[in-house]
Amino acid sequence: MVVSIKTELCDLLGIEYPIIQAGLGPYCTVNLAAAVSNAGALGTISIPGMTVGPEIASEKIREYMHTVKKKTKNNFAINTPVGEHVPDIMLKTTDAYIDTVIEEREKDPDLKRRLVLYITSAGSPARYHKKIKDSGLLHFHVVPSAYHAKKMEKMGLDGVIASGYEAGGHTHLPNRAVHTFVLIPSVTDSVKIPVVAAGGICDAKTLVAALALGAQGVQMGTRFIATRESDFHINYKRFIVESGEWSDMVAPGVYGPARCLRNKGAEEIIKLEAEGVLPEEELNKLKDERLWASERDGDVVNGLVSAGQVVSRINNIPSVSEVIENIIREATEIIKKLNGVLK
Ligand SMILES: Cc1cc2nc3c(=O)[nH]c(=O)nc-3n(C[C@H](O)[C@H](O)[C@H](O)COP(=O)(O)O)c2cc1C
Repeated sequence: MVVSIKTELCDLLGIEYPIIQAGLGPYCTVNLAAAVSNAGALGTISIPGMTVGPEIASEKIREYMHTVKKKTKNNFAINTPVGEHVPDIMLKTTDAYIDTVIEEREKDPDLKRRLVLYITSAGSPARYHKKIKDSGLLHFHVVPSAYHAKKMEKMGLDGVIASGYEAGGHTHLPNRAVHTFVLIPSVTDSVKIPVVAAGGICDAKTLVAALALGAQGVQMGTRFIATRESDFHINYKRFIVESGEWSDMVAPGVYGPARCLRNKGAEEIIKLEAEGVLPEEELNKLKDERLWASERDGDVVNGLVSAGQVVSRINNIPSVSEVIENIIREATEIIKKLNGVLK
């Protein structure tokens, strides 16, 4: 029996394997994105923060796009959290990211050909969807429910990334939490556009499960952080490897609850938010600074360390190509064995 781990998503995005590296803002992922694209999956450029202001936003995202373009000959994506009901600085920063990506792509035929997908997340992408589509980019949005997936299909999006409550980074409101195993079949039953599964995926078992639930592919965040090529500080990678079951917690992020690893920094943010003494803008800046501290300085005590519950299944720091090749090889074996059992 010949098994090929290929889906229509691969044709749509021009990739070999149905695996997307998640956007991991506010961290720089240029080396990670290039390594993932070079290994046959889809690397994603992340934004350097939602509170940096439009000038830094444009300058940095332009630099990131050209760096990744030079480091890989394959296709790649870009991610920006969006939302209309956000403080003014965040709205201006988001507008700058999206406008700069579209303008820069228009000027550079190679970039236009290979930067194929805009992944938006967080709030509604309504303000940006037409602009993104008119530029020729494919547009996927990250959704936490079948309800939101149906809205995205109606809006005209090309695909959705359904992300379960266990995911790292921004996650569901606690009273609206849906975990990956329930979410993915709900979404795949609800829409006809391609569905990518996210949240808790790290290996062949979880890839095959996602495909069995009807997804066209997977998006992985935490697994890719703990790789040799990833741009993250070694302390961050080690913290993931050393963490286990119950190491994670949910703390207030810039766009609502966000999953991170339990430490002093996260406990402090919870306390500051509850006390309500800092104005929203100042608190958001502090959250971004704490996020940068963990990655830039390796301060995994006072910094915020975003990661998913899947840390309990991650025990090593391999190269990106090892992660991807192992997943594809082992997935093939799992599918063959399932076929043998179910006669
Ligand atoms: C460090 C970190 C930063 C993240 N930043 C973003 C981001 O900027 N934009 C976004 O759409 N999702 C972000 N996420 C969520 C990921 O894109 C992805 O959906 C999630 O990591 C999937 O779950 P997993 O960590 O279990 O693989 C972030 C996640 C982590 C762990």
